[in-house]
Amino acid sequence: MNIAIIGSGGDGAGMNECLYTLCAKLKKHNVVLFNRGLQGIIDDDVANFSLSQIKSERKRGGICIKSSRSSEFMTEQGFKKFLATLKKHSIDVLIVMGGNGSLCGVRKIVEAGVRCIFIPTTIDNDIKQSDYSIGFSTAVANAIDYVQKVDTSMKAFDRTCIYEVMGRHCPDIAKSVAKAVNACYCFTDKSTKKELLSAVKNELKTNSAPIIILQENTIDSSILKDYLLSNLKNVDVKVAIVGYVQRGGYATGKELKMASGFAKKVACCINKNQFNIIVSYNKMLNRFVAVNI
Ligand code: F6P
Repeated sequence: MNIAIIGSGGDGAGMNECLYTLCAKLKKHNVVLFNRGLQGIIDDDVANFSLSQIKSERKRGGICIKSSRSSEFMTEQGFKKFLATLKKHSIDVLIVMGGNGSLCGVRKIVEAGVRCIFIPTTIDNDIKQSDYSIGFSTAVANAIDYVQKVDTSMKAFDRTCIYEVMGRHCPDIAKSVAKAVNACYCFTDKSTKKELLSAVKNELKTNSAPIIILQENTIDSSILKDYLLSNLKNVDVKVAIVGYVQRGGYATGKELKMASGFAKKVACCINKNQFNIIVSYNKMLNRFVAVNI
């Protein structure tokens, strides 16, 4: 079989491990790697990586075959070019590692008659068909590390700090980080400023440097900061945007285990001729399953 693999959308640690395990397990097939996700297929940008080169990247964050968010893919002309490249390489099945946006793209590809397998890879953990997506564990670990480092300085000055974490519209990163760092409040789209204020007031009775975790895309951090400053006396408030550090660094042990688990399940599905599926993790069963796209 001719199998194409891409990484698409936001990168996350564990994608390289997933790619390595896919290539190792699918050795008997002809595997074609494309650089830069969907856009790379449009541009017929084949990646030349040996198995040992990918192996050396296993633990590192990012994705060695690079990723992209392609607007050209959404155009009629771009999609035609995309299908033409797959035809040129006689691709029998396309494996996409990606997030929500990429999953929409995969649905469009399947409708056009191309067999696909989708692997959830996004730090946001917001693919509703899977209880875990590759990148989440490392993103949480990186954010915890960031907060703990900044917090030592906040404590030295008795400062209250609002830490904004990624997650797009999903509160999973924010909630996990808040719990781990003993935040006095986790601000999500269900929160109110009043509730936050009361939590901070309460925390200040025993802790002069309260930690607030803010889920991105809920409220502007500067609005929260100004609100707290105008409602608290003698309290200094800072904002720290955790940002891309969450997507970087090296994969956690859990990440590596999950990433190779997803890849092994994909290889298993290919051997059973199971296509047009999302390989997902079912927490209750504690195993990887195939769900129809
Ligand atoms: O979807 C992953 C993610 O890191 C989100 O958490 C964040 O909102 C977004 O990507 C950032 O996107 P970009 O890499 O395009 O700046």
